[in-house]
Amino acid sequence: MSHSRYNRSSLVRKEPSTDTLTPPVPLFDADGHRIYWLGVCEASAFRCNTYLVRSGATGVLVDPGGRNHFTAVRAAVEKIMPVEALTGMVLCHQDPDVAASMIDWLAVNPALTVFTTPRTHVLLPSYGHRDYRLHDVEATPEFTLPSGRSLRFIAAPFLHFPGAFTTFDESSGFLFSGDVWAALDFDWRLFVDDFDEHVPRMDLFHLEYMPTNLAARGFVKRIEHLPIRAILPQHGGILREQDVPRALDYLRELRCGLDIIYADLQ
Ligand SMILES: [Fe+2]
Ligand SMILES: [Fe+2]
Repeated sequence: MSHSRYNRSSLVRKEPSTDTLTPPVPLFDADGHRIYWLGVCEASAFRCNTYLVRSGATGVLVDPGGRNHFTAVRAAVEKIMPVEALTGMVLCHQDPDVAASMIDWLAVNPALTVFTTPRTHVLLPSYGHRDYRLHDVEATPEFTLPSGRSLRFIAAPFLHFPGAFTTFDESSGFLFSGDVWAALDFDWRLFVDDFDEHVPRMDLFHLEYMPTNLAARGFVKRIEHLPIRAILPQHGGILREQDVPRALDYLRELRCGLDIIYADLQ
């Protein structure tokens, strides 16, 4: 991967997104196990995705998002199920675009379980809520939903936080990847149609936010055996099954962060 593909200029383009979707958008449905895209729609290259795993009468938010989007995400949930019926939220790291709304969700339902790593858990009280039910995804890397379906939590060390992790939904084969495979662009689509066109958008994020090739390659080794049918990042479009092999190659070959800043030391 050459550094020359890195083009910051696309961050300031003002073309609107071509996808004008109204969340929630159903992405998967099998025997009452459903996955939805909950938004958000925003004219920002740093647009965020929030997802919902609904299993039977319960629901788990994935990457619930910032406080600025809480009202919109809540409205999307309410089209699917009562917000009081939510049972948990997956916080793949503590960045505000992922986790700041946790205090709003806990105000709605103080019994919500927070699925996260110990390193993230140390920092989450900075948002103002210290007492919540914790599921430590390192100590217990599998969670069985009331329907019997399972979520598997897979560490993604240093991508881009030391305690970052991803979530694999066993039933759908969907990998909720957080900032891994995140992409930045105003010209956003819910699904990636052209992987080659998508690569520069991923470069905009990964070359600056991801630390080094070793972290990316190490993560691929952890997940390459999984039957991944889609990759659902926190920013940018969803990668479909046919693009998964190339997405894995993208990380294997990625030169990023310190590889670039300290290239002369290698
Ligand atoms: Fe982040
Ligand atoms: Fe993010």
